[in-house]
Amino acid sequence: MTVRPSHELVTDLQLKRYAKLIYDVAGVEISPQKKQLLSNRVRRRLKVTGIANFEDYYETLVSLPVTDDEWDHFLQEVTTHETYLFRDDSNWNWFRNEYLPQLTSEARLGVRKKSLRVWSAACSTGDEACTVACCAAEGLAGQAGWDVKIVGTDIGVGAVREANAARFGERSMRLVPEPLKKRFFDQAKNTPFWTPKSQLRNMMSFRQHNLLDPLRERPFDVVLLKNVLIYFNTESKKRVLENVNRVMLPGSILVLGAAEGVSDLLDGYERIRPWLYRCVNAASPPSGKAGV
Ligand SMILES: C[S@@+](CC[C@H](N)C(=O)[O-])C[C@H]1O[C@@H](n2cnc3c(N)ncnc32)[C@H](O)[C@@H]1O
Repeated sequence: MTVRPSHELVTDLQLKRYAKLIYDVAGVEISPQKKQLLSNRVRRRLKVTGIANFEDYYETLVSLPVTDDEWDHFLQEVTTHETYLFRDDSNWNWFRNEYLPQLTSEARLGVRKKSLRVWSAACSTGDEACTVACCAAEGLAGQAGWDVKIVGTDIGVGAVREANAARFGERSMRLVPEPLKKRFFDQAKNTPFWTPKSQLRNMMSFRQHNLLDPLRERPFDVVLLKNVLIYFNTESKKRVLENVNRVMLPGSILVLGAAEGVSDLLDGYERIRPWLYRCVNAASPPSGKAGV
């Protein structure tokens, strides 16, 4: 097995070819400034797989279907997975103090069903979905009959596996308000890991999905699309937003990250806050059977 010296970088041509491959498969842009980073990440895969060099690894990738495990390992290396519960407190203050009370009052008045459907798009290890579950459990406590479904999706099979395992370390848990932590999580004995109680787990499901493809699901009340489009270019952002719009209805809410860079692309939405939009025009859903 040949291990590449740690200073060796992909050539400019290899960088271009890798960048195109990543863009075509995931929509993520790799700029020329990321040469060192990309080289380091690919080198890690060379070490694990025993493949001799950057060129051979590229050829291996293009010869494999994107569903192959190696593709997943590669994408996990070249994408960012940073996430934690209660990330961006303004989002959660809105959700807990404005959105949920509005839902419950509408349900009391009989103008909406006791149902809430949320999509955590590009959910990484599920921390965002778990935050929604935690807030919903708190905000809807004592009100019988609510059906809450939170669907988390990510391109990374490994990330989805971790999301399904629902085991959060101290770093993920550091912003969870103490009363909610005590009420809705159990600490695994003699470990620094927390697991959500079944009340939360029952609301969540996770699966692999590429945002460049339509999601076959019924419309959602809320879509969280955070800290992912920041890595996309205008063309792939547009494609993702089209897919997102297909699973929204007029009145559905879109929650964005602080730096997604899509404010010019949100024609069919009414801006409520810089990161919060209400859908006004929804596209028709993708054909085929929707998931439940
Ligand atoms: C920084 S994390 C964001 C996690 C979470 N939304 C948050 O804000 O805390 C970005 C995630 O986007 C995922 N991702 C990147 N490209 C994707 C694509 N084309 N489709 C679905 N997920 C993608 C990555 O696998 C990664 O887990």
